[in-house]
This record gives sequence, structure tokens and C-alpha cells, in this order.
Amino acid sequence: MTYVIAQPCVDIKDRACIEECPVDCIYEGPRMLYIHPDECVGCGACEPVCPVEAVFHEDDLPQERAVFGPAAAEVFEEAGSPGGATASGPLGSDHPVVGGSSPVSA
Ligand code: F3S
Ligand code: F3S
Repeated sequence: MTYVIAQPCVDIKDRACIEECPVDCIYEGPRMLYIHPDECVGCGACEPVCPVEAVFHEDDLPQERAVFGPAAAEVFEEAGSPGGATASGPLGSDHPVVGGSSPVSA
């Protein structure tokens, strides 16, 4: 079980979630952040601190945002499991799903 960051994060990137994550598994892309699905321990600490409610348990993702679950996994297909966002640095690109998102759309 893991947590997922969804559309409300796009172009907001508040980063409060990063401060809460005990395993440093929240990686920054150019327009949003991604939780590594294999590195996340599912503690839930990141979910309540996001001011725009972008973080969901994967089982609670609204249907219109369900695509962000597989998108997070796909983002790390190339990067693998770096084992820590701070050491590995920002991601070079966003998942294509971000391209169709804007802060004002659902
Ligand atoms: Fe994004 Fe919310 Fe974290 S806006 S960076 S998911 S605190
Ligand atoms: Fe990290 Fe826990 Fe969230 S491991 S990504 S703070 S659920």
C-alpha cells in the first residue's frame, strides 16, 4: 500500500509533504512531486499536511485522478529506486499526464 500525489500538486509544489516523509521518498519533477511507490512505507504523514489536498492513499484516489497512481510508477521505471530524493536530486521531466493538467482543472 502506498500514497499517491495527484493533480492538485501541479504547478503548486508546496513541498510540505517532503518535510514529513521519514524515508525521503517524495521526488520533485519540474511541475509536480511524485511518491516512489516502492520506497513509500505508507505511514500517511504526508497526506494531512498538503494545503491543496493533493495526497491520497492509493485506495482513495478519486476516479478522475486514478491515472496518477500508475503515472507515479511509470516515472520511476527509468529511474529505478534511487533510495532517497535528497541524494538523487530532482527528476528531469514530468510524466506525460501532467501535460494535460492545470491548477484550475479537475
Ligand atoms: Fe505537492 Fe502538496 Fe506536497 S502541493 S509538493 S503534494 S505538500
Ligand atoms: Fe513518505 Fe509516509 Fe508519505 S513514507 S510518501 S510520508 S506515506
